[in-house]
Amino acid sequence: MKSKTILLLNLLLACVAALAIVLMLSLPAFSQETGEALFKGKCAMCHAADASGKTTMGEKLKIPDLRASDTQNKSDADLKNIITKGKDKMPAYETKLSAAQIDGLVAYIRGLGKK
Ligand code: HEC
Repeated sequence: MKSKTILLLNLLLACVAALAIVLMLSLPAFSQETGEALFKGKCAMCHAADASGKTTMGEKLKIPDLRASDTQNKSDADLKNIITKGKDKMPAYETKLSAAQIDGLVAYIRGLGKK
């Protein structure tokens, strides 16, 4: 191969590697964002957009504030399980959301607890 071709190939490889790094770095932020959008779209009617549980539904069903220590002290696995399988009046999202989407929601709920 000519050295010019080899140089071009190396440049191409470097570009692909750089792109892969950028993608990897932006993934956590992406799941955070989709978690927020999902929460507002699918959960806020009961839990309220700020997760306080202060909605008509929330008062009727006695929904806990997801930012409070009661929820925040539960493990990620517990939260994931509740969202996946449901709990009393809390609907199960097993068939409606992917595991990755539920992970995004757990991350979003965690983020709320830190504020
Ligand atoms: C129909 C109203 C309703 C909807 C919609 C709803 N929830 Fe709930 N959620 C509840 C109720 C009621 C509880 C309390 C269950 C219990 O502990 O008895 C609850 C509890 C929870 C808990 C557990 C809190 C704890 O500390 O035990 C989490 C986490 C949660 N919901 C997340 C979500 C997410 C994420 C969504 C959207 C994908 C969602 N919920 C949609 C009604 C709802």
